[in-house]
Amino acid sequence: MWKGLIDHYKEYLPVSENTPALTLHEGNTPLIHLNTLSKELEIDLYVKYEGLNPTGSFKDRGMVMAVAKAVEAGSKFVICASTGNTSAAAAAYAARAGIQAIIVIPKGKVAAGKLAQAYMYGAKIIEIDGNFDEALQIVRDISENTSVTLVNSVNPYRLEGQKTAAFEICDDLGSAPDILAIPVGNAGNISAYWKGFKEYNATKQTGLPKMFGFEAEGAAAIVRGEVIPHPETVATAIRIGNPASWKLAEAARDESGGKIAAVTDEEILNAYRLIASKEGVFAEPGSAASIAGVLQSVENGSIPKGSRVVAVLTGNGLKDPDTAVKASTVDMVSLANDEAEIRTYIEGLL
Ligand code: F0G
Repeated sequence: MWKGLIDHYKEYLPVSENTPALTLHEGNTPLIHLNTLSKELEIDLYVKYEGLNPTGSFKDRGMVMAVAKAVEAGSKFVICASTGNTSAAAAAYAARAGIQAIIVIPKGKVAAGKLAQAYMYGAKIIEIDGNFDEALQIVRDISENTSVTLVNSVNPYRLEGQKTAAFEICDDLGSAPDILAIPVGNAGNISAYWKGFKEYNATKQTGLPKMFGFEAEGAAAIVRGEVIPHPETVATAIRIGNPASWKLAEAARDESGGKIAAVTDEEILNAYRLIASKEGVFAEPGSAASIAGVLQSVENGSIPKGSRVVAVLTGNGLKDPDTAVKASTVDMVSLANDEAEIRTYIEGLL
């Protein structure tokens, strides 16, 4: 039986006999081969489907570690700023551990499913007229002056937990892929994956991928080389203009010989529809940035034909039902409660 990350990867994680055995059985997510897109793009394309974690995003990997270590240190409160997924995971693991989560979120910019999770897991929810970057600055300051533990990815235990996804990819493929494509928001996850690939390679000689990070064009601070005071994108998960792990992300890019590029909202929405409709894989818009980046990189030649590529799908499509309904090109038909009328309609489709 899979008992979660702390149990499975303890020799790679900063855990001791005093670390609580906290788990919601996170991790062990599927690596799905995209058959249709692989053929069309002439590459070998897989997705690491992190939307199947207990709260529906990769944040569970980091949060199980951060909350377990907070509890181990005697903390009764954890706090985070969030575009929605971090807060959902913090609230869930705090509930599981019997402590309180406090979350600070940008008003009107958190997807419906993520907000529903914060309510149900019993977080103290604070919304502000401000963006993620401003919320993060506030919670960083508060955590320095109070007994509340900060669980954003500047907490080093977050990256420790998140690096385990790289281990799973190497175990599933037998070695690292040629290219790892990943959305970039606050830049913690790209940094965590790179750490994971390097550590696994050092002990198991699994090799190293090139790290390809993708920011949304309206929030592409690293690509532009400057803080973006008012980031905007349909992919609210990565609507971040001053990534906290900026330097670590650049190191991952440079050490691996990879790149960080921008994808437009149009490219994101196109990729979002494509993987759902052609592959049956529903991921949230922020996640689709990785697929948008793969499409762009095959087109411009930075991913050569024949490459083995893993794109990280960071969050479940169900997180953001409003964007799904808006972005879909499917029209629902409304018919009478009448078998003959419905049959006529269906026969017209055949
Ligand atoms: N994808 C999703 C679905 C996310 O929720 C996030 C970040 C990212 C990608 C980017 O990861 O920040 O490590 O570069 N969401 C954070 C949050 C900011 O608050 O949930 P990153």
